[in-house]
Amino acid sequence: METIFSGIQPSGTLTLGNYLGALKQFVELQDDYECYFCIVDEHAITVPQERLKLRQNIRSLAALYLASGINPDKATLFIQSEVPAHTQLGWMLQSIGYVGELERMTQYKDKSQGKDAVSTALLTYPALMAADILLYQSNLVPVGDDQKQHMELTRDLAGRFNNRFNDIFTIPEIRIPKVGARIMSLQDPTKKMSKSDENEKGFISMLDEPKKIEKKIKSAVTDSEGIVKYDKVNKPGVSNLLTIYSSCTGESIEAIEAKYEDKGYGDFKQGVADAVIAVLKPIQDRYLELINSDILDDILDNGAAKANVTANKTVAKAKKAMGLGRVR
Ligand code: TYM
Repeated sequence: METIFSGIQPSGTLTLGNYLGALKQFVELQDDYECYFCIVDEHAITVPQERLKLRQNIRSLAALYLASGINPDKATLFIQSEVPAHTQLGWMLQSIGYVGELERMTQYKDKSQGKDAVSTALLTYPALMAADILLYQSNLVPVGDDQKQHMELTRDLAGRFNNRFNDIFTIPEIRIPKVGARIMSLQDPTKKMSKSDENEKGFISMLDEPKKIEKKIKSAVTDSEGIVKYDKVNKPGVSNLLTIYSSCTGESIEAIEAKYEDKGYGDFKQGVADAVIAVLKPIQDRYLELINSDILDDILDNGAAKANVTANKTVAKAKKAMGLGRVR
């Protein structure tokens, strides 16, 4: 069976973009692959975090993974910092990465822009991400469109290590969903939907109440044409809503266009809101049951134990290949 790895940062409540671009695919893939899903808390600290809030976000993300349908009997769910091999291999990969290639990462440029104090880890972040993936000899990495560049670097680092030392890493492929790989902001549909958006109306949080979801979708920016048609360049707002609708219901964009052919944006937006609520409400109900339960800790303990076994084997191979430590 082939292996999958993916991770999500516990840096605030997830958005509908995180769900449609990532989590939704994870749930679909867990039946056919050996899956490792990670709460990447060490990635989150590349920008300042409040201690107690981070702890809360880690737990909340674990509950959201499960509430979305990740089944711990099929997939391994764990917290990155509970598996020390991630930072160990991350360091080894930093030693073969180049400052120049890291500085070219658009996510680094975006996150460091205009800041006086940028952490070293924000720059070296992609080496840790590569370690996450390579530790499990992953074949496939399901992510949203914004992770493409990091994935290319992961493949480069794996190939470089294999060539320079020993052929120990599987070179992973990226998997991006056909619809929903890049959900855009509801207020500025040329920008990615992001939980760090200052305008709260721009994103839907996975835990927003149905009334709030409806309100945000009703106030989404569209255009004055009044025609429900997919045209990313000239109608980015409507196209984004069509993508959300299609991704939530599984209906094709063409079928949705036909359904709203003689109707205005009011009806269409109501349809989008209903589709989003139908997906998120059951997840929210399960989340509330899980968030304070002990099951969560048992699942994370088991996940870390299993991940440690696999990850430590790879670190041992990498150390040997690089000549670190002693012969035993
Ligand atoms: P993060 O935490 O920013 O996002 C988690 C996942 O959600 C996807 N995503 C989106 N998809 C569609 N539309 C959007 N608007 C949207 N916003 C976010 C992201 O593409 C991602 O799949 N570097 C990663 C975390 C990570 C990782 C890994 C991922 C660390 N190690 C190893 C895969 C494998 C990140 O910051 O994702």
